[in-house]
Amino acid sequence: MRRIRPHHVFALVPAGQERVTLDLPKQFVGEPLMLEKALLLALLRISRARRIFEFGTYLGSTTAMLSLNAPEAEVCTLDLPAGATGSSAVEEDKKLSLSRAPLRKLDGRIQRLLCDSNEFEPTGLGEFDFIWIDGGHDERTVTSDTENAYRMRRPSPASVIAWHDYGNSKYPELTRYLEGISAARPLMFVEETLMVVDCQVLSEHVARP
Ligand SMILES: C[S@@+](CC[C@H](N)C(=O)[O-])C[C@H]1O[C@@H](n2cnc3c(N)ncnc32)[C@H](O)[C@@H]1O
Repeated sequence: MRRIRPHHVFALVPAGQERVTLDLPKQFVGEPLMLEKALLLALLRISRARRIFEFGTYLGSTTAMLSLNAPEAEVCTLDLPAGATGSSAVEEDKKLSLSRAPLRKLDGRIQRLLCDSNEFEPTGLGEFDFIWIDGGHDERTVTSDTENAYRMRRPSPASVIAWHDYGNSKYPELTRYLEGISAARPLMFVEETLMVVDCQVLSEHVARP
């Protein structure tokens, strides 16, 4: 797996598009760290995303952040139906947060899909410029989400697929899976984070002497 530094990503943000809206964190676990959120927003700018897809809505804070920072974009986010996570703590967090979430303020631009992503069939949904994979972390689910993401991705040098939790000791299957496909895909691990990114313009930028 190729390793890059956060500055490699920030360097590609188009001039004049550095200003973003970023809520300070709540105490919930399972959400990306602030550096990761800033990197997601940089990648959003780089991809000039008009269509965004997220595997794993959880509390919806990343969903809302992406939507607020790409007001023209359509956002689609997928999670298990209520009661299906197998964790009562997660269910409580979700009830609490989604009932008040910034998501609610975001009108018809956010489409929520409620299903097990292993059963998800993306045919007919169209192409996406920016895909965030942060749903189930077991091998079966990350394989299914990744294969679907490659089918859904717009074939453009700036389009982005990004994964969360690479290197997280809680999810060794996910790390092994991404290591395995990195022989065939131009994946980059962003140091100081748990993020892996596939984006052609970023790979080319990093490869430049
Ligand atoms: C780490 S959280 C997502 C965090 C969120 N993307 C964020 O940035 O704040 C993982 C989410 O994936 C969902 N999930 C787990 N397995 C899933 C599956 N098989 N299908 C759909 N969603 C799944 C969980 O319910 C949970 O809400």
